[in-house]
Amino acid sequence: MTPIALSTPRLILRPWRDEDGDAFAAMFDDPAVMEFLLPHTGRAAIDAFIGRIKQNFAERGFGLWAVEVPGVAPFIGYVGLWAPNFEAPFMPAIEVGWRLASAYWGKGYATEGAKAALDAGFSKFGLNEIVSFTVPANRRSWRVMQRIGMTRDPAGDFDHPRVPDGSPLKRHLLYRISRARWEEMSEKH
Ligand SMILES: CC(C)(COP(=O)(O)OP(=O)(O)OC[C@H]1O[C@@H](n2cnc3c(N)ncnc32)[C@H](O)[C@@H]1OP(=O)(O)O)[C@@H](O)C(=O)NCCC(=O)NCCS
Repeated sequence: MTPIALSTPRLILRPWRDEDGDAFAAMFDDPAVMEFLLPHTGRAAIDAFIGRIKQNFAERGFGLWAVEVPGVAPFIGYVGLWAPNFEAPFMPAIEVGWRLASAYWGKGYATEGAKAALDAGFSKFGLNEIVSFTVPANRRSWRVMQRIGMTRDPAGDFDHPRVPDGSPLKRHLLYRISRARWEEMSEKH
């Protein structure tokens, strides 16, 4: 499938370019970005991750879009849709996720991009539900979930199987949004 680009008032969510790799790798060296993420294991692993992102776009048409802010920065991170492949009670599912360079936090970019990703997921890709999850301490992330209209499913809290036992990053909160809820919200705005 040809990956599509999405645009919002301030952002372009676009396919990845080769030159995004260095800016993305730099984000892994920022302790603020990494505070609630597992430590990275080097540039080869980061490039492999970008490879999986591109592969996902080729297979599904959607993925973790590279975020560009025209006139401001060619690449500030990613926002998009992803099919996690670990086992959990809510799986299989498509998640909406985000990771921005810390210089671009506090501007509403993640929320703006995530709304476009949800809209594409429901209206272009026919999804019926989209989930998101994070650790309870990652308030910035679950605030984005709340701002885009997602609802916490307390019964869905889970231990992430990819996180080592005993890590403070093990327990995750689950948020959900249905197509019906998204359409209801869209009609009001
Ligand atoms: C999670 C993450 C994307 C959130 O970024 P963020 O900038 O806090 O989120 P938003 O883009 O929605 O911005 C919201 C903030 O911008 C402010 N803002 C400023 N101008 C705004 C505007 N025009 N529109 C909307 N919000 C605006 C909001 O008031 C809010 O500020 P507050 O947090 O002080 O209340 C970011 O912290 C991140 O990349 N973290 C590291 C990676 C990570 O943990 N990813 C999630 C893994 S689960």
